[in-house]
Amino acid sequence: MGKVALITGVTGQDGAYLAEYLLHLGYIVHGLKRRSSMFNTDRIDHIYQDPQTSDRRFILHYGDLTDSLNLTRIIGETQPDEIYNLAAMSHVKVSFDTPEYTANADGIGVLRILEAVRLLNLVKKTRIYQASTSELYGLVQEVPQTESTPFYPRSPYAAAKLYGYWITVNYREAYGMHASNGILFNHESPLRGETFVTRKVTRAVSRIALGLQDKVYMGNLSARRDWGHAKDYVRAMHAILQQDEPSDYVIASGITTSIRDFITMAFAEIGLHVEFNGEGADEQAILAGLDTELFRLKVGDEYLDSALQRRGEVVVGVDPHYFRPTEVDLLIGDARKARTQLGWEPHYDLPALITDMMTNDLKLMKKESYLRAGGYEILNYFE
Ligand code: NAP
Ligand code: GDD
Repeated sequence: MGKVALITGVTGQDGAYLAEYLLHLGYIVHGLKRRSSMFNTDRIDHIYQDPQTSDRRFILHYGDLTDSLNLTRIIGETQPDEIYNLAAMSHVKVSFDTPEYTANADGIGVLRILEAVRLLNLVKKTRIYQASTSELYGLVQEVPQTESTPFYPRSPYAAAKLYGYWITVNYREAYGMHASNGILFNHESPLRGETFVTRKVTRAVSRIALGLQDKVYMGNLSARRDWGHAKDYVRAMHAILQQDEPSDYVIASGITTSIRDFITMAFAEIGLHVEFNGEGADEQAILAGLDTELFRLKVGDEYLDSALQRRGEVVVGVDPHYFRPTEVDLLIGDARKARTQLGWEPHYDLPALITDMMTNDLKLMKKESYLRAGGYEILNYFE
């Protein structure tokens, strides 16, 4: 029998990659998913197993981090060797609109899991991974950020995660739990939610290249992030729980890039050259030139004429709507502890991440373009 893992947030970006990785390692994987009026399992449909499947190794349970009775029952029933607490209201900007809910799910939710493990007498059996974040560093007190850099949260999300971080440390020290924090810097992928900056950009650049969209509006272009690939980062989560002793680890690439440069790189990936001008809310980028051979290769000959006609047009603008009341200007992590103690090494650098995301979004948007051109009929239910 393989080990048993419980993943909260299994329908999210990291949950999907981690579930796939643990199944590959021979685990039985239980996943907590929220009830939704629409299907929310797109990212895990390829590994879904019907309840009728014999020797099922991937099992979903309805649940919510705000419901302690439900969490306690599921942990009691599944008796996990490892819990990966990935569930969270994870959007920093949205947390300013939903601060109380964010505190409940992202802060108290962590306590509910730790306390359930304690009350169920699973302290010796169950190891816990808490999805902590580089957002804890906020207004950074040190560059680069390490496990000992002081925290300075700058959003309701980060303040809630700060509680989650410390309650995890406290349960480790108070009850001897094998409970660890992964302080993960931004990690992205083709599965990234559409409103996070990298995915918003790779989707928009793909649509602009295919003539489906003229322009994209962004927020603060000068913020800098340390980006890696989610596939690499879920391997680190697993490695953290395989250590003899629980501890906290920074997981990061060690390279920081501005949003502006990320946008330039995403356009360049398909042969489009953009130039930025102006400042603040008046900043914009124009399509300044094309590498026609690269564009043909990556996007397709049939889209070249319309792209050529768009030279000189504005393709990126700024809308202050996307600014945050308090911003995290610079993140750059030092993952030396993870590299030496876990033997963790990322396989993707930023250019490889952008290639992966752009390739997937181009494919996806071509499908959208086909559907728009009459690939299927839209039903008018009320006619
Ligand atoms: P994500 O794609 O937004 O996924 C979040 C998951 O949590 C989804 O499955 C979501 O369910 C679920 N969820 C939200 N609220 C819940 C609740 N109240 N009860 C139960 N489930 C709930 O996030 P991610 O990028 O995979 O990140 C995973 C975790 O790592 C999060 O805790 C995030 O804060 C943290 N983190 C992420 C990064 C990053 O760069 N990606 C970096 C550091 C830390 P639905 O599918 O139903 O919405
Ligand atoms: N989302 C978004 N949309 N961000 C924008 C935009 C835009 O149009 N324009 C500029 N930005 C800037 C944000 O202001 C921020 O400085 C940066 O891009 C990154 O934003 P996000 O991609 O939304 O990620 P985040 O860094 O706020 O949070 C993500 O990473 C954290 C780890 O540091 C989330 O995944 C968090 O859950 C995670 O903890």
